[in-house]
Amino acid sequence: MAFPGLTAEDLQLSRERLTELFAPFVDRRFEARDPEWLRMLTRRNRKIGRKLLKRRLLGWIPRHRRTPAEVHSEYGPKWMQKTFESYDPSAPRSHSSMYEWGSERMLAGNRGGKRLRQLVMMRVIEWAKPRTVLEVGCGNGINLLILAARFPEVGFSGIELTPAGVAAARRAQELPELPGALREFSPLPLVDVTAHRRIQFHEGSAERMPFAPGSFDLVLTSTALEQMENMRERALREVTRVAGSHVLLIEPFRDVNDAGLPRRYVLARDYFRGRIEDLSQYGLQVLFVTSDFPQKVNLKFAAVVAAKV
Ligand SMILES: C[S@@+](CC[C@H](N)C(=O)[O-])C[C@H]1O[C@@H](n2cnc3c(N)ncnc32)[C@H](O)[C@@H]1O
Repeated sequence: MAFPGLTAEDLQLSRERLTELFAPFVDRRFEARDPEWLRMLTRRNRKIGRKLLKRRLLGWIPRHRRTPAEVHSEYGPKWMQKTFESYDPSAPRSHSSMYEWGSERMLAGNRGGKRLRQLVMMRVIEWAKPRTVLEVGCGNGINLLILAARFPEVGFSGIELTPAGVAAARRAQELPELPGALREFSPLPLVDVTAHRRIQFHEGSAERMPFAPGSFDLVLTSTALEQMENMRERALREVTRVAGSHVLLIEPFRDVNDAGLPRRYVLARDYFRGRIEDLSQYGLQVLFVTSDFPQKVNLKFAAVVAAKV
């Protein structure tokens, strides 16, 4: 979906570039009708069907909903355990997921998807030229640590719900230089590998952020609103409030998960289900949308660039 004024060419998101950056994370390729691929798809479908049934039976109980308490219990341990070395494209993978892109079918590591989302962030920053950027739901800071090294002239901040995520990001900031694994992971060359030390990390919730209106030229989220369905409106209002001119939201919008396996997965996981057209209710004018990159069979993301009006 292209809108006047901003195109995939402007953002240099060519198929060749995306293919090249994703390639180190591909473990195996399949033909679309390969019986083994279809068997895996059937198994995945059944597993998600069971999860969805459980959610439908127990979803009324708060601990079976994606509340902040649930996010803490899922992401607290995750950010405590995850090492930055594991992002190195050559690091061994414990798991690969089913990805598709047009007629391509692949088993690939999830870090590949993250690397492509980082490319989108970098291209949008090159285009929008913000002086300040906030990432909401920044996890262990992986995106900001790398973005700061690519754009040392930009003031980066992050806000994250879990203390473990913030602690992991701050531990990386104690290092004099960005860890080698993150330099390897970066989709584009880096400029200053000490700039990560200047990022401001905050612990807090997207639904009530300790920032004045319009504090950041660009506010971005990447697979973070995903976790905030139960506060979708409040979070989107806050994101818009603290944005000065643009937002970039790389999230599982309903537009790209509206049917079949992705729809059932999003419902089973109680993930974000906002529509792109609803962004206008928050005072955002959509400038550009893309979902044209390798995507998991069960969960798709759309990258949306919008201006605050
Ligand atoms: C899937 S992770 C993505 C992290 C990061 N954006 C990335 O791309 O690696 C989602 C993150 O959103 C955070 N999160 C969920 N709800 C939040 C909230 N209400 N406020 C701030 N962060 C939140 C979670 O703790 C988690 O770290």
